[in-house]
Amino acid sequence: MSTEDKKQRAAREALKWLNDARVIGVGTGSTVNHFIAALKDMRGRLDGAVSSSTASTQRLKAMGIPVLDLNAAGELPVYVDGADEANRHLQLIKGGGGALTREKIVAAVSKRFVCIVDDSKLVQVLGGFPLPVEVIPMARSHVARELVKLGGRPDWRQGFVTDNGNIILDVHGLSIMDPPRLESEINQITGVVCVGIFAHRPADVLLVGESNGVRTLSG
Ligand code: 5RP
Repeated sequence: MSTEDKKQRAAREALKWLNDARVIGVGTGSTVNHFIAALKDMRGRLDGAVSSSTASTQRLKAMGIPVLDLNAAGELPVYVDGADEANRHLQLIKGGGGALTREKIVAAVSKRFVCIVDDSKLVQVLGGFPLPVEVIPMARSHVARELVKLGGRPDWRQGFVTDNGNIILDVHGLSIMDPPRLESEINQITGVVCVGIFAHRPADVLLVGESNGVRTLSG
C-alpha cells in the first residue's frame, strides 16, 4: 500500500472523532488535504472551520465549507492536523509545510487534537526530521547562532516566507531526548516566533495509517 493510501486511511478515520462538532480546526499538509476531501459528506453538518493556513483555507472554501476567524470562533471542540514526526507520547514535530505557528495556535485553543499520520512518521526519538523554527527575518543570524549552541545545524529554508511574513530555519542533527525542555529553550531565543516541537501541547489522539488499517494511540 502506498504512503498516500495510508495517509488517506488515517484522514478518513479522523471523521469519526468529529462527533457532533459544528466548528472544527483544520491543519495543513498532504494528509490534511485527504481529510478536507473527506469532509465532502459532512458539509451540511458543519457551520465552518478554522484553518491554519491560506493553502487549507483555499481548499476548504473550494469544498463549500465556510472558513471562520479564530477570534470569533472561540474554543474549538476538535482540531485535525498532520505531523512530520510523532512519538509514543504523542509529542510531535510539525512545520514541514511552514504553517507551524498558526497550527500551534489552533491546537492551543482546541479541546481535542487529533493527529493523522502514515506509519513512516512514528519514531522512537524526535529529531530525524529537521526541526522547523519560524523566525523574525532580522533575527535570522542571531537565532541560527543560538541553535548551533544547542547542538543543531540550522538551514535557512530558501525562497520560503510563512503566512506571517517570517522565515523558517530547519534545524538538522538534533536528537530530541526531552521534547518539552527543548521546546521551552528554543522558545526563549529572542527572535523565535515558534518552534515546531509540539510537546507542551501534544496530540490527544494519534491515528496511524498502516497497511492493515488504522492504529489509534491516545494520551
Ligand atoms: C505543516 C505541517 C504538516 O502537518 C506536516 O508537515 C505533515 O505534512 P504532510 O501531511 O504533507 O506529510 O506541520 O506545517
